Amino acid sequence: MSLDDVRAIERIDRHDTRAILADFPLQCRRGRALPAAAPPSGERPRLIVIAGMGGSASGGDMVAACAGDTLDVPILVHRGYGLPAAAGPDSLVVAISYSGGTVEVVSAAEAALARQVPLVAITAGGALGALAQARGLPRVTLPSGLMPRMALGYLVFPLLSVLAASRAPVATEAEMNEALGVLATLAGELAPGVPTDKNPAKRLAIAIGDRLPAVYGGPLTATAAYRWKTDFEENAKILAVAGALPEMNHNEIEAWGGPAARERYVVLLREESDPPEIARRFALVREMLAPTAGGVTEMWTRGDGRLARILSLAYASLWVSFYLAVLHAVDPWPVPMLEEVKRRLSP
Ligand code: F6R
Repeated sequence: MSLDDVRAIERIDRHDTRAILADFPLQCRRGRALPAAAPPSGERPRLIVIAGMGGSASGGDMVAACAGDTLDVPILVHRGYGLPAAAGPDSLVVAISYSGGTVEVVSAAEAALARQVPLVAITAGGALGALAQARGLPRVTLPSGLMPRMALGYLVFPLLSVLAASRAPVATEAEMNEALGVLATLAGELAPGVPTDKNPAKRLAIAIGDRLPAVYGGPLTATAAYRWKTDFEENAKILAVAGALPEMNHNEIEAWGGPAARERYVVLLREESDPPEIARRFALVREMLAPTAGGVTEMWTRGDGRLARILSLAYASLWVSFYLAVLHAVDPWPVPMLEEVKRRLSP
């Protein structure tokens, strides 16, 4: 099918995911405007633990990646039940679950309460919302009605506000403004109304076709690579792999020598500001994989600040996986397998 056939897209995208994606810059603006929350003590934490799963954890990954260069407080993104032993009364736990119904995150919040670790909840409701209400926790209340992975703006920006209010700021006002501007520009470039010859997200989805995407990032963009993988899996319902340079040069590169590489498509998440040693490795990987892989495309970050750069790639990922879903005649919105797991594990 043609990705320029708007009627055909409408027929497959029955839940109007495209409207949610088109509104993503606005969602980020709204997320930024939500009132912040912080523990009442006002103490600066010595460790920040962001407890989340799936799409909600992804917001934590991005904030942690932005903080890497500037914040002198370590951020640990915790995906699982309970809390790591390092989380104590001088830490901050941010329990983040868009739906509020994720049992692992509720378990982390309960562990924080039991250990008297300062705790903030970011959620639209569910069990986490009820716990926050019952225990009078500081909380950011999110608007409901979205799929968690499509609520990234409601996860990243309130998390930034919570950390700023906890004296651990990660992004400046100027960096947030820049990110919003970059996303607004991208929205105009990647939307379904922009024809394939001018729309890099459509072109990449077509190039990938039936191949397995392998997405590789560098020091900052490895976080986005993982997000690309999960977007391909949840939106297009296809398996994908994610890796990071330089690490993949020491193991995964060996998987690209044989004929099976033809069935895979390489996406390299690049930065103009890649340090020379990383740029050299990207160039070499491209040179070595191009003859064996089913194809190679480089996607570049936009903007100067880390927040704009990482969100620009996350937004592109939402659109590329959306178009790939449409090409495979798959509605990008529902996640029936994931929901069945949750249903079958619920008490
Ligand atoms: C579904 C999605 C999932 C969820 C995950 C945790 O759209 O993105 O990865 O994020 O199952 O659920 P929440 O985010 O509600 O805690």
